[in-house]
Amino acid sequence: MVADTDIKKGLAGVVADYTAVSKVNAETNSLLYRGYPVQELASTCKFEEVALLLWDGELPTAERKAEHIAYGRAHRSLGAELKAVIDALPLDCHPMDVCRTAVSFLGACDPKSEDSSAETELKKAWELFAVLPSIVCYDQRRRHGLELIEPRDDLDYSQNFLWMAFGEVPSDEVRDAFNTSMVLYAEHSFNASTFTARAITSTLSDLHSAVAGAIGALKGSLHGGANEAVMHTFNEIGICSGESEEDAKARAKEWMDQALAEKKKIMGFGHRVYKNGDSRVPTMQDAFFRMVEHYNRNDMIGLYKGLAQSMDEAKGIKPNLDYPAGPTYHLMGFDTPTFTPIFVCARIAGWTAHILEQRASNSLIRPLSAYNGHNERHVS
Ligand code: COA
Repeated sequence: MVADTDIKKGLAGVVADYTAVSKVNAETNSLLYRGYPVQELASTCKFEEVALLLWDGELPTAERKAEHIAYGRAHRSLGAELKAVIDALPLDCHPMDVCRTAVSFLGACDPKSEDSSAETELKKAWELFAVLPSIVCYDQRRRHGLELIEPRDDLDYSQNFLWMAFGEVPSDEVRDAFNTSMVLYAEHSFNASTFTARAITSTLSDLHSAVAGAIGALKGSLHGGANEAVMHTFNEIGICSGESEEDAKARAKEWMDQALAEKKKIMGFGHRVYKNGDSRVPTMQDAFFRMVEHYNRNDMIGLYKGLAQSMDEAKGIKPNLDYPAGPTYHLMGFDTPTFTPIFVCARIAGWTAHILEQRASNSLIRPLSAYNGHNERHVS
């Protein structure tokens, strides 16, 4: 007989394994990637360097960086077959379905699909890291009836991403804000999608299957889908240009009071691990405020501050990373369904680092359950 107290619903509080990839410390509100504070990485490193840190365990030497950049830039193009697969998908399917399908397709075509040596898996990780932005940007463009913009190998990761999305090389300010979001989204220990990737890897399945599964887990609104949901909240309340900050805050409070009275989950707030605020929010919030100024969009500030303030006053629940990230992507010009796929492009670094780690010290992930169905019975 299993006692109710033995059931760890949602695996809450369960320590499932060791990891050396990142450390989330809820007590001190800190997040370390391979020992480095994420805020420090976000302000000093390019996303490509952070991906190498997550994969290799060390920040790259100049030689390693050059090797990675050259390899990545050579793998940015979609290729005719992949483009045809994307074109075959309905225009109104969710972009996360496009990402998942594209990764599945690439896995099916990979001649080294069953080669799970660390060296080959690392190459597969680089290749996905390089091509995912092209998938995401092309899908956004095709949904708006626009042509594919080919990647440029003279641009860094963030510049090229924004170039492929909008056909313009971004200002340094916009590139830096985007880079910050990618670094902050890159890794977060045993979150639901990473754990999914590890569980799939633990069966000795291939890397693309693990990533496709992780994309499925990230799609949900309790996980990555929250950055989109935040924008839906803003739109539901209504962004009114010319309105004073105080008036916008009052409307946000009214909406929040009503939503909480209806016992709604407010997306972009709360976290399974951080109970006193998400360590990544201050850095992303600074980037959001910079973008508000850059695009001269003060009309977003009242709602942003008003929702956070009223949630804090009502329930003491703080925003998570999705709260400032969603509106930042909106300001940059991304459409709302593209927000979670951008998260995929960032988290591919963390997922694949965990896949490599799981592979190196594998044990099949298979918990037990307590049966609460019918007693034994018979057909006749
Ligand atoms: N809106 C309203 N209430 C919330 C809330 C939110 N976003 N997050 C937590 N709560 C409340 C719950 O209703 C619950 O209240 P109760 O004890 O009165 O029932 C309490 O806080 C504990 O919440 P719970 O859902 O059990 O915590 P959890 O650790 O399982 O959940 C999340 C963590 C992230 C799933 C949860 O905070 C959530 O659903 N947030 C919204 C989705 C989101 O932003 N996800 C991105 C995460 S990075």
